[in-house]
Amino acid sequence: MNTLKASRISTAAGRFAKLIWRPSHLVRVHASAPPLTRQISMDAQSVASRLSNSGLLRSQGLIGGKWVDAYDRKTLKVYNPATGEVVADVSCMGGRETNDAISSAYDAFHSWSKLTAAERSRFLRRWYDLLIAHREELGQLITLEQGKPLKEALGEVSYGAGFIEFYAEEAKRVYGDIIPSPLADRRLFVLKQPVGVVGSITPWNFPLAMITRKVGPALACGCTVVIKPSELTPLTALAAAELSLQAGIPPGVVNVVMGNAPEIGDSLLASTQVRKITFTGSTAVGKKLMTGAGGTVKRVSLELGGNAPCIVFDDADLDVAVKGTLAAKFRNSGQTCVCANRVLVQEGIYEKFANALSKAVQNLQVGDGFTEGVVQGPLINEAAVRKVESFIEDAISKGAKILHGGKRHSLGMTFYEPTVISDVKSEMLLSREEVFGPVAPLLRFKTEDEAIHLANDTNAGLAAYIFTNNMQRSWRVSEALEYGLVGVNEGIISTEVAPFGGIKQSGLGREGSKYGMDEYLEVKYVCLGNMNSN
Ligand code: SIN
Repeated sequence: MNTLKASRISTAAGRFAKLIWRPSHLVRVHASAPPLTRQISMDAQSVASRLSNSGLLRSQGLIGGKWVDAYDRKTLKVYNPATGEVVADVSCMGGRETNDAISSAYDAFHSWSKLTAAERSRFLRRWYDLLIAHREELGQLITLEQGKPLKEALGEVSYGAGFIEFYAEEAKRVYGDIIPSPLADRRLFVLKQPVGVVGSITPWNFPLAMITRKVGPALACGCTVVIKPSELTPLTALAAAELSLQAGIPPGVVNVVMGNAPEIGDSLLASTQVRKITFTGSTAVGKKLMTGAGGTVKRVSLELGGNAPCIVFDDADLDVAVKGTLAAKFRNSGQTCVCANRVLVQEGIYEKFANALSKAVQNLQVGDGFTEGVVQGPLINEAAVRKVESFIEDAISKGAKILHGGKRHSLGMTFYEPTVISDVKSEMLLSREEVFGPVAPLLRFKTEDEAIHLANDTNAGLAAYIFTNNMQRSWRVSEALEYGLVGVNEGIISTEVAPFGGIKQSGLGREGSKYGMDEYLEVKYVCLGNMNSN
């Protein structure tokens, strides 16, 4: 049983997070960052008090239905990437708290998995309704801790909540099979059963949707979860968990621990009660988790890094290609695993496309996500900006040319100019690795075969995009691309109703859609014998 110390448990159910807004002299300053400049139109303090009043600001972990501190009361700071201000202090947890959360999830599994599918469905539906009812607050929370523009953050809430709605419905469609028996006195059945306790490790770029995409199907199937959100963006996860409690989802079904990532990860891996790890994040960490899961032979689902090619053929509609590339590249300031990482452009349309894209990029307004009209927020932290800078330096030193942008934005902090860079070659870092920033590198190709070869010349295989008006080519190239997702004449293709996932080193398994359920189900074969006797 879970042994939580009473003193660690928050007394009032609706206790607010300790929001600590700091004067500017306490702002986190990066060694080489230009000075902070502000252009916030929505008052950040009023966002905080509104969130506080709604009871959605939480600072403790959620274990067995109780909000608890870390045993040693350690905390970690959450920052607003647009301003560097400390937004909140949240509990910094480790192995002990994770083991408590696992025990709670294990206890809860026995009753949650025995509910009828219709009962679980109703809980999920109530959770969905609450997520939508609190769309504004959740969107503001996402902008506050992650930095994406408010409009995009609100879009993430709808997208993220959509997984809970979809899986509320899908819960009722977990069908088994009856297999025609080779022997007359036997009846053969296949049952689908929940895998058990799931450890869910999620990233900072989609603080809500990457959680609901995992937890929705897990709960629908009858699993219980221990969520470890990114330490950079835990507030949205905690708010979503609070709403799960308000929806009546029983204690222990949803648990959240955050803090010491290696300790939490090791505890999840070591536990024999955790039967599955689902992870979205870097390929390097995914490989470690996959190896670690071997010790207890756990199932793993991995959504890892991409290196998405965006192929623009001569026969593409120029406007559609520019609009689609803009969307595929600059969503969340280039910080998604499915963002176009290389833009391969056929020689006949290259100049026209490069000019049109550069012109479109000039119009992207950069700034604090709370400012009206801003479509490009800050990068998540200084390390992210340095990475972009090093990739640009590498490309320029090897002959690439900046068409637009190419440096930190005059706003300072972690703002980077949306950038278009031409004459990029396959050997440059921009082509080999995921930039995770607002940089569109243009590569030139001559033939369809060359484009396919360039596109597939990577260990990654998550998303790819093609722009063409030739229907035969769209089929041919879609089939030839070694990727889990392909967008044709479209730059944003993620949806809860379609399978999301990669091949090669971009991951294992699928999320979203009916396929996302399989990841949380075991297949059990039952043989009934002696069926001919009376
Ligand atoms: C991701 O970046 O991992 C997710 C992006 C999406 O769901 O579209």
